[in-house]
Amino acid sequence: MSKLALVTGAGRGIGAAIAHKLAADGWRIAVCDLTKEPAVAVAATLSGSGHSGWAVDVSSEASVEALFDAVEAAHGPVTGLVCNAGVLLMAADGERPTIFDMTLDDWEKTHAVNTRGVFLSIRAYARRRRAMPVEGGRVTTTSSVAAELGGYRGSASYISSKSAILGFTKAMARELSSLGITVNCVAPGVIDAPMLAAATPRSAAPGSMDALAQAVPLGRLGTPEDIAGAVSFLLSEQASYITGATIDVNGGYRMA
Ligand SMILES: NC(=O)c1ccc[n+]([C@@H]2O[C@H](COP(=O)([O-])OP(=O)(O)OC[C@H]3O[C@@H](n4cnc5c(N)ncnc54)[C@H](O)[C@@H]3O)[C@@H](O)[C@H]2O)c1
Repeated sequence: MSKLALVTGAGRGIGAAIAHKLAADGWRIAVCDLTKEPAVAVAATLSGSGHSGWAVDVSSEASVEALFDAVEAAHGPVTGLVCNAGVLLMAADGERPTIFDMTLDDWEKTHAVNTRGVFLSIRAYARRRRAMPVEGGRVTTTSSVAAELGGYRGSASYISSKSAILGFTKAMARELSSLGITVNCVAPGVIDAPMLAAATPRSAAPGSMDALAQAVPLGRLGTPEDIAGAVSFLLSEQASYITGATIDVNGGYRMA
């Protein structure tokens, strides 16, 4: 039977593209999102067989534990874990809140999903793989070019939460190496997916999607499929000696 990958935030956007790419690679996919309907809908459109759709709130310990228990009871051990779910909260006026206006609620909600959610997901996976090891275990996390650059559309809470992922990924790469599991990060640039679209007007005005595209050396916004390609590689056999790395997928928007 083919290996099982669990992808969070896969009901739309980048996560859905990752699910499609991994399914085409031959993985069985547990498509997970905050509500079940979009997850089931994406699972139904994937190539191959053995896919399923699940509801999870990655910020909830009980929800993440229940998800892993249910998925593994139904489909066996998860080999690939893709931590993709994330939120970018904007102020009521549609702009990113500055520190002067940022609420504690924004800060806490952002970190609950973007940082705590990754911790809970990787811990749930790690404990189960220690109890039931798998060949070729793989984890990917999702940071952002916003964390590397200090932000463009992202708020300070978003940048902070995504910066934490850069360090947490390396810590997990060290700790899970004893299980033969690699842990790597993908840092998307400006990707034409719902999160960016919600935070950015589609016009020629400064700060718009078009203006952002012109600032990218490769001359275009990224696509969800661009990110899916990097995740596909990191979950593949070819990437078995890569761990603790961050792959920038940003068209040259930021060059380290
Ligand atoms: N789009 C971009 O330009 C961009 C750039 C850099 C990083 N990213 C990161 O890539 C990832 C995907 O982004 P996207 O553009 O596809 O965003 P998106 O908003 O389209 O998708 C995020 C998904 O996560 C889900 N989600 C939110 N909270 C959740 C929770 N508590 N539990 C489970 N699922 C939850 C949402 O329902 C949604 O389906 C995010 O982590 C985001 O921060 C995106």
